[in-house]
Amino acid sequence: MKRIRLPSHIAFIMDGNGRWAKRRFRPRGYGHRMGVQNMFKICAHAFHLGIPIVTVYALSAENLKRPREEVEELFDLFRTYFSKKKEKFLELNAKINVIGDLSALPEDIREGIAELTQDTKDRTQSLLNVCVNYGSRQEIIEAVNAAVSYGRFVDEQNFSELLLTAGVPDPDLIVRTGGELRLSNFLLFQAAYSELYFSNKMWPEFSKRDLEKAIENYSARDRRFGNVREEKR
Ligand code: FPP
Repeated sequence: MKRIRLPSHIAFIMDGNGRWAKRRFRPRGYGHRMGVQNMFKICAHAFHLGIPIVTVYALSAENLKRPREEVEELFDLFRTYFSKKKEKFLELNAKINVIGDLSALPEDIREGIAELTQDTKDRTQSLLNVCVNYGSRQEIIEAVNAAVSYGRFVDEQNFSELLLTAGVPDPDLIVRTGGELRLSNFLLFQAAYSELYFSNKMWPEFSKRDLEKAIENYSARDRRFGNVREEKR
């Protein structure tokens, strides 16, 4: 890869698992299974390239309204990778932080998550945030209610501290696969100045090279954060 400016925090909306599977005459669950394998590959590559923080949208709050069978398949994947095959997460050498309303998850999955979080809590080199049953509007509303209950006004800084991503810098780059051009209730407050990158590849086929292309594209952008850039005279 060329000499480039790396994002400090990259986030992924891993869309297109279902369509990828359907095009291969396979059930949607197969797409999710291939999707999770790709998630480990792409996260490992992002850390390998030197990006310290990665966030993945593994299950949105809205995804729980999908047919029971598909939700169960996704729960089975969590069950597998948060406990039986947790070495896939451990091998990333990152601190694992699971973000979202975990109360809706079966207890065994919550236990697996708690253990994995505990196992990796002292890792300081890389951080992987896994968003599960996450919804950004819900997160913002909860933060507002928390501020109200403390009886205090908020500013940008202390409001951020009430969000589920407290202490984590905002994503510099958000990558969405699957060809859709939207954020789908993902990190709405945190994405205020994120660069957005959309790929037509379906998530299971998004490759390491595709990740590098997204980063090269990001690197060439002029981030002004609403300010102006000094013209060279
Ligand atoms: C969107 O594809 C993807 C999801 C709803 C789930 C993504 C989850 C994973 C990759 C697995 C995460 C697992 C662990 C253990 C963290 P879609 O089904 O909406 O695809 P479509 O748009 O083609 O229908």
